[in-house]
Amino acid sequence: MARKKIGLIGAGNIGGELARLCANKELGDVWLFDIAAKENFAKGKALDLEQNSSVLGYDAHIRGTSSWADLEGCDVVIITAGVPRKPGQSRDDLVAINLPIIRDVAANAKKYCPGAFAIVISNPLDAMVYEYKRVTGCPKGMVAGMAGVLDSARFQLFVAREAGVSIKDVRAMVLGGHGDDMVPVLSMTTINGVPASTFIAADKLQAIVDRTRKGGGEIVNLMGTSAYYAPASSAVAMAEAFLLDQKRLLPCAAYLDGEFGYHDLFIGVPAFVGAGGVERIVQIALTDSEKAMLAKSAASVQSVVDICKKTP
Ligand code: APR
Repeated sequence: MARKKIGLIGAGNIGGELARLCANKELGDVWLFDIAAKENFAKGKALDLEQNSSVLGYDAHIRGTSSWADLEGCDVVIITAGVPRKPGQSRDDLVAINLPIIRDVAANAKKYCPGAFAIVISNPLDAMVYEYKRVTGCPKGMVAGMAGVLDSARFQLFVAREAGVSIKDVRAMVLGGHGDDMVPVLSMTTINGVPASTFIAADKLQAIVDRTRKGGGEIVNLMGTSAYYAPASSAVAMAEAFLLDQKRLLPCAAYLDGEFGYHDLFIGVPAFVGAGGVERIVQIALTDSEKAMLAKSAASVQSVVDICKKTP
């Protein structure tokens, strides 16, 4: 059986780390795609990563390109095309620049790899994934946005450090849009099933929620650009769940068709990811205050989607 084919659209900071992880995990052969002006950069990064295979011992091929024809027949595409945030910018501030880019990417993906499971990382995330589905017309389960795995990872780290426990035992779900209104679900935050509130006082938990909501911005302020290691790992967890049919329950920006009371909107919800893509959304019970937070987050995502819809 031939190896799977993985297309990484955008060969920047996240793209490079995605390629490294996909190859190291032997998930498939990788094409690192970027615009024509950065084709040599993509090829150089791919060559460096292929040389790395002699040391680390993976057989996956990694190639750089600016030709969409090379992405023909991809099983998975992970999209980071666009510009990242700079200090002082919100994710929503990127919409004017990244909207034409996601439209260009979606039109080409529709032409060259219409069967691929698409994972969108470009920001503003929930609106960009909506636009990808709108332009490609792909089935709703064949595209998802990566935000919830990352936001949950940040939340879990802060909980582990505050409680003084292993990161391996912390379980949490952060739902809603990938913005300052995201919804860390405290009622489901546990240390291997034991409520986190057993170990962490309410005011400390609230401080962790606040830090998680601004978790991306904290890194942008420190580095001058946005995070890339944890975002790449999070997207690869989703790609792996699809490629290996793992049926993992992951928080993903998935298309809502009535679930949680929302229609025609992508926001972060718990979903099973397997060979069918986003196979099933799980409508967990939320407290009244979590429902209110989700409504606020959904409204803020909708306002960015509305801007996209009005932009020719
Ligand atoms: N097609 C393909 N690639 C493109 C396109 C396009 N139409 N337009 C831009 N790119 C490429 C850029 O040339 C650049 O190499 O996307 C790459 C983005 O890489 P970085 O600038 O390093 O950004 P990165 O940190 O990887 O983040 C990318 O993910 O988290 C989000 O907010 C972040 O939207 C940003 C995206």
